[in-house]
Amino acid sequence: MVAWTTDDLKKRGVESARLDADLIVAQVLRLDRVRVLLAGERELTDDELTRIRALVKRRRSFEPIAYLRGEREFYGHRFLVDARVLVPRPDTETLVEVALERLRGRDLGGRVLDLCTGSGCVAVSLKLERKTLTVDAVDLSEGAVAVARDNAQRLGAVWNVRIAVGDLFAPLGRPRALYDLVTANPPYIAASEIPTLPPDVRDHEPRLALDGGDDGLELVRRILAEAPRWIRAGGTLAMEIGAGQADETRALFEKAGFLDVRAAKDYGGIERVVSGLTSS
Ligand SMILES: C[S@@+](CC[C@H](N)C(=O)[O-])C[C@H]1O[C@@H](n2cnc3c(N)ncnc32)[C@H](O)[C@@H]1O
Repeated sequence: MVAWTTDDLKKRGVESARLDADLIVAQVLRLDRVRVLLAGERELTDDELTRIRALVKRRRSFEPIAYLRGEREFYGHRFLVDARVLVPRPDTETLVEVALERLRGRDLGGRVLDLCTGSGCVAVSLKLERKTLTVDAVDLSEGAVAVARDNAQRLGAVWNVRIAVGDLFAPLGRPRALYDLVTANPPYIAASEIPTLPPDVRDHEPRLALDGGDDGLELVRRILAEAPRWIRAGGTLAMEIGAGQADETRALFEKAGFLDVRAAKDYGGIERVVSGLTSS
């Protein structure tokens, strides 16, 4: 079945055909990838074959494997994902790392706001790393907030965690210097580049999670304009950005008055997260 699935996906132009075939068969047989090789020796039931074919059909149209599986691992935790949220990327673990680094040495408590939370992967991972944090998270998409709440519940990150629907800081009321740290992985792809993205992303992930306006930095600018009023003196703003956006984003942070502005590289060596401190 793995061979047939690989062949079928390859013919449709799916580059990761072999890996995807393993994962689809593993999912239906409820086995890990290695055991799929052994299971290949037994005959599959009609029900198993029907379920494998249904998943192959979805993958043929380039639906991301994470949506087929209904989950994706991020920072060591399994997050539920579906078409309402961006699939969490390993590069975004850099945002969690930078946030934890900037929190190091501060009081154990502390308040964090995660804007553009999507599946909640950043907010929930931070809470699970530092259980004493108070965490607020916001997303404009009601569907994304439903997924994030589900993830927070399932992963045991509910105490002092609030997840709200709304436009950036809007659901939080009047600006107050509440937060020690604000994180965001906003949509940062230039609108004109969206048609050139791989079909998995372009045709299946939410447009709201991708489209960063004319030059990709529209949300980055809006967050920088508002964030200083929400962050305590000496607190941190950390934002994920796209490849090639670091120089401009660093300059925008400095222009907005942030100090100690730095760009951190992701696993692929790309400057991925810009962070800075509010002046004390
Ligand atoms: C790139 S995704 C990031 C999701 C998640 N934080 C992650 O890292 O996987 C951006 C998210 O921002 C949300 N979003 C877009 N515009 C927004 C806005 N104006 N206010 C709040 N959230 C917004 C989208 O719905 C999407 O979930």
